[in-house]
Amino acid sequence: MTERITKSMAKNIYYGGGLFALLIFAGLTFDTVKQIPERSNQVAMTESVVHGKSLWEKNNCVGCHTILGEGAYYAPELGNVFKRRGASDATTFKSFMQGWMAAQPLAIPDRRKMPQFNLTETEVNSLADFLIWTSKIDTNEWPPTIEG
Ligand code: HEC
Repeated sequence: MTERITKSMAKNIYYGGGLFALLIFAGLTFDTVKQIPERSNQVAMTESVVHGKSLWEKNNCVGCHTILGEGAYYAPELGNVFKRRGASDATTFKSFMQGWMAAQPLAIPDRRKMPQFNLTETEVNSLADFLIWTSKIDTNEWPPTIEG
């Protein structure tokens, strides 16, 4: 007689396997959620960072840019623009941001344009603070290159 899997064996595999996968899923979810406050660098979220985030949304920067991979692929990723254009120094980056935002749109032919938003100096500094804060989120070294 050939060995056969009985109905109750199949049931045990189904329920046992299901429960096992569910427990792993719950464990990993708990582990991830527990790490969020530290990885997102929440303590450094100042009022200026929050203001910068609201300006980011109001002006639809994400309609052209990605931030940590989310958004549109028309313009450069900005999750790491602090490292790319500010050499990870806040003063350097803020002066880059003031210059960059004021100079738009660049009069360079055949180059994608960024609009002029007419933001105040304080608003640009807040956007810079938001981008600095974002660059310090622990993303497991993502994006992989400084240019993207
Ligand atoms: C209509 C599309 C568009 C919108 C909306 C937009 N940008 Fe841009 N942005 C661009 C393009 C295109 C470039 C690249 C231009 C170039 O290199 O000449 C760019 C470049 C940048 C850079 C420089 C990136 C680098 O690596 O040098 C920064 C910083 C930036 N944008 C910030 C912002 C912020 C902040 C907002 C929202 C207030 C915004 N952008 C909204 C199109 C856009």
